[in-house]
Amino acid sequence: MTTAPQLAGQIVVVLGGSAGMGLETARRARAEGAEVILTGRDPERLGHAAQEVGALSTAVFDVTDPAALGRFFDSLPGPFDHLLLTGPGPYYAPLTDLERERALADLATHLWLPIAVTQHAIGRVRAGGTLLFIGGTGGRRRGAGMSLISAATAAGPALVANLALEAAPIRVNLIAAGFVDTPLSATLLGDGLEQRREQLRATLPIGRVVGPADVAALAVHLMVNTALTGATYDIDGGQQLVP
Ligand SMILES: NC(=O)c1ccc[n+]([C@@H]2O[C@H](COP(=O)([O-])OP(=O)(O)OC[C@H]3O[C@@H](n4cnc5c(N)ncnc54)[C@H](OP(=O)(O)O)[C@@H]3O)[C@@H](O)[C@H]2O)c1
Repeated sequence: MTTAPQLAGQIVVVLGGSAGMGLETARRARAEGAEVILTGRDPERLGHAAQEVGALSTAVFDVTDPAALGRFFDSLPGPFDHLLLTGPGPYYAPLTDLERERALADLATHLWLPIAVTQHAIGRVRAGGTLLFIGGTGGRRRGAGMSLISAATAAGPALVANLALEAAPIRVNLIAAGFVDTPLSATLLGDGLEQRREQLRATLPIGRVVGPADVAALAVHLMVNTALTGATYDIDGGQQLVP
């Protein structure tokens, strides 16, 4: 038995679509019949990704640059159906080392950027579409170096719930990921990556490491299921349940 592609005729924008969860979501959306528009900062990496998935178009810019973000939305030739924002990683530091400018920039990225993207999306998203933002479950822990990420993590669900009300009928949802085996995780962990994978295989209730394909499957489900808005979806293999 075959099933019809679930995103046939739809357009998916992935801000931060040249690697990790964004690229995997683009692959999955293509497999479900969508056209994809990919963005990122590194033109070479973006070009490879776009060629691999057969992207409709690409744009090279930094999502944290408000003017560039506005120009990107203004350059879109017409409406789109769904958008996933991935992009910059977290900023962790012990309290004594937290730098004001980096901390404020991080808050702007994690709190203001979803608001700005939603503002730009209004009037450009077709009926039934969703905006998807990525948060985390790791920031629900308390500990040294966690103050900034914890605050942003706690704010995420409240933010998307309100955006979903204000931007309706556009749907707005948050994906809260635990460890996901992406290039970002490899960069953050360096030589400790394999050890971390082993530890997760041994301790997670699912007995394996969560990968970008798991997140992509959730993202595409959130695009397809038009009953879902204003909510936060944890995807961490049970990581927050174990010490
Ligand atoms: N991996 C995890 O375990 C995990 C867990 C929870 C939450 N998250 C969050 O999920 C998001 C995606 O993570 P990932 O692991 O998929 O990351 P990734 O593998 O590093 O991919 C990030 C993508 O976003 C682009 N990007 C990064 N910064 C950007 C910027 N300032 N402007 C435009 N594009 C940018 C990257 O391309 P360029 O570098 O070329 O721009 C790349 O295409 C991040 O916000 C991360 O903090 C990750």
